[in-house]
Amino acid sequence: MLYSETVMDHFRHPRNVGVIEDADAVGEVGNAKCGDIMRMYLKINDGIITDVKFETFGCGSAIAASSMATEMIKGKPLKDALTLTNKAVVEALNGLPAHKIHCSVLAEEAIKKAIEDYYKRNGIEYDKRDFPDCESCSSCQN
Ligand code: FES
Repeated sequence: MLYSETVMDHFRHPRNVGVIEDADAVGEVGNAKCGDIMRMYLKINDGIITDVKFETFGCGSAIAASSMATEMIKGKPLKDALTLTNKAVVEALNGLPAHKIHCSVLAEEAIKKAIEDYYKRNGIEYDKRDFPDCESCSSCQN
């Protein structure tokens, strides 16, 4: 079987799909490799992600990865969400085929973009090195 049961479950029943109208932060990223798009909405209270929703215009692996990623950051402090890697998401999904790893990068990047949006909206100082741009990531190069 190409995809793990966990991937299939999150693909068929994605968690946290949708829009948060009064979101405190929104992050949108596109995948340079396939052109797919993901948008992540966060509600943040006292540095904690109290709610998260996503829209993914992308493949099944991207949907499964976004779904898993939202579950992994919900209820967590922003700083924990910031350290979530696509590798951790892939591990939580019990793996993805090698040529689908790049799909999981969308989720990590969308979360980072949303957190950066939150910092900017609120005039919070942040370290730019926590937000590397797409070109400096190696995931799409394999
Ligand atoms: Fe585009 Fe998977 S093929 S995100």
